[in-house]
Amino acid sequence: MTEHEHRPWWHETTIYQVYPRSFADSDGDGIGDLPGITARLDHLVDLGVGTIWVSPFFSSPQADFGYDVSDYCDVAPEYGTLADAEALIAGAHERGLRVMFDLVLNHSSDQHPWFLESRTSRDNPKADWYVWRDGRGPGGRKPPNNWRAAIEVKTGWQWGEERQQWFLASFLPCQPDLNWRNPDVKAAMFDAVRFWLDRGVDGFRLDMFGSIMKDPEFRDNPLRPTMSRVTPPRLYPHEFTENTADNIELARDLRAVCDEYEPERVLLGEVFGPAEVLQAYTGGPGGDGLHLAFLFEFLVFRYDAGWFHDVIARFEHAFPAPAQPTYVVENHDRSRSIDRLGGDEEKARVLATVLLTVRGVPTIYMGQELAMANTYRPLRDALDPIARSLAWIPEPLSKRLPERLNRDEVRSPMQWDGTLNAGFCPPEATPWLAVNADHRTRNVADQDGRPWSMLEWYRHLLRLRRDHPALHAGDLHLRSGLGAGLLAYDRRHGDDHVTVAANLGAAATWVEVTDDQRLLAASAEDVHLADGRLYLPPDRAAVVGSAPPNTG
Ligand code: NOJ
Ligand code: MG
Repeated sequence: MTEHEHRPWWHETTIYQVYPRSFADSDGDGIGDLPGITARLDHLVDLGVGTIWVSPFFSSPQADFGYDVSDYCDVAPEYGTLADAEALIAGAHERGLRVMFDLVLNHSSDQHPWFLESRTSRDNPKADWYVWRDGRGPGGRKPPNNWRAAIEVKTGWQWGEERQQWFLASFLPCQPDLNWRNPDVKAAMFDAVRFWLDRGVDGFRLDMFGSIMKDPEFRDNPLRPTMSRVTPPRLYPHEFTENTADNIELARDLRAVCDEYEPERVLLGEVFGPAEVLQAYTGGPGGDGLHLAFLFEFLVFRYDAGWFHDVIARFEHAFPAPAQPTYVVENHDRSRSIDRLGGDEEKARVLATVLLTVRGVPTIYMGQELAMANTYRPLRDALDPIARSLAWIPEPLSKRLPERLNRDEVRSPMQWDGTLNAGFCPPEATPWLAVNADHRTRNVADQDGRPWSMLEWYRHLLRLRRDHPALHAGDLHLRSGLGAGLLAYDRRHGDDHVTVAANLGAAATWVEVTDDQRLLAASAEDVHLADGRLYLPPDRAAVVGSAPPNTG
């Protein structure tokens, strides 16, 4: 491969997820907004990421904080205007950043005018725009089949009084599933996709993409309890409601819409399933489906060298070049990684090293670069609709729930500085969710330029990744047969060779490196290089290599 080979931009990018409600509030209403994001874009440039993914900011009653859309082609007033969305895209492009928006195609809000019309009768013009069915039993009062909602405790079917029929809502009852088998729906949704492509967005993260096309025969899902570390345990595997053949086909149709545009626009799917399924979405015949699929294993990582070795090996095997695996340790739905690490920042530095030096596309969730922590909030005070539905669980018990299941806890405002409200909104405003009390000592202003801060560590790793072809374009070779607790791999591209080593074990250890390799990054001062060996105390990681070609 030559220095100047053409590699698509999304092969080399790094993604930063912004949850708009919590990033930066420009108008003092306590709610983050689009102008707030635009004003803070330089933070992303200084951090060194390539792409910003913005969670939904479209018109919405906010019952699921934007994942319930009531107009796909407009902006919710608390977040700004269409002009603000355009300014965000322009501001990002001026700085060399790409922009991905978040498409919620599976369902709309129950307040979307389409649904308000659809629910009124069985023969209105939008009657068939959602998934309506007659029920079973006397008066049709039993749900049409056994399909469950996402959190599975209840049926996914909701009763529509006016039509005396059931509609499907695979996530929450306020999010009716659109009927994509109706060509008018598909056309209207693709128009919405083009609406944003026309405005220059570089791609989309696709919410619940795997669930869009359900079995046309509405067959019951089998009753077969299954465990997954990535999704909640299921009584009914989603055999007929997820990853159907038609859904893979839909990925191709959506790709074709993106391919109408230059330069290349990118699709990143939230899809759950075994490797073969994810490959079918991304690889397919001719690689004409989704560009990327989230691989969620790292969200539930075990701090264990063998665990990381095995998962990276599996991802490498399932997504060989030119396919790109993806890596994510946090998002707006799951626990902050520092909490999974018992608050240990040295371990968090090790985790960041792995995340940002493996082959593929890493995603960073806002605040992760500061080691922002979960902000405790009891279920009874939850704003998150999932947590609210569990508010009946008494506190002593709910506190012990594995994930805490309150997504508010990972959505507290971004911590910009140590002032009241953390610089997220003016001191006199009331943020929509309380700021974490640790913002006084954990914030961007404090960590900026401070040696050994988490922010500087992320910046350093991202700089290395950009500078070294081995890291942004090279292959990955996992070393095996290493001492307990040690994870190590080599990345190579042409003459550029970088070795990454992490000691997740309890004892100091070392790894062999070549003579020309020098220390490019060390997670702490006590890492050192001598006589062809890299010495690592426990909970340390380091990157060694030759100087990057472009800096001599
Ligand atoms: C997945 C999103 O990440 C989550 O935040 C949302 O509530 C559901 N999809 C429903 O759209
Ligand atoms: Mg605001």
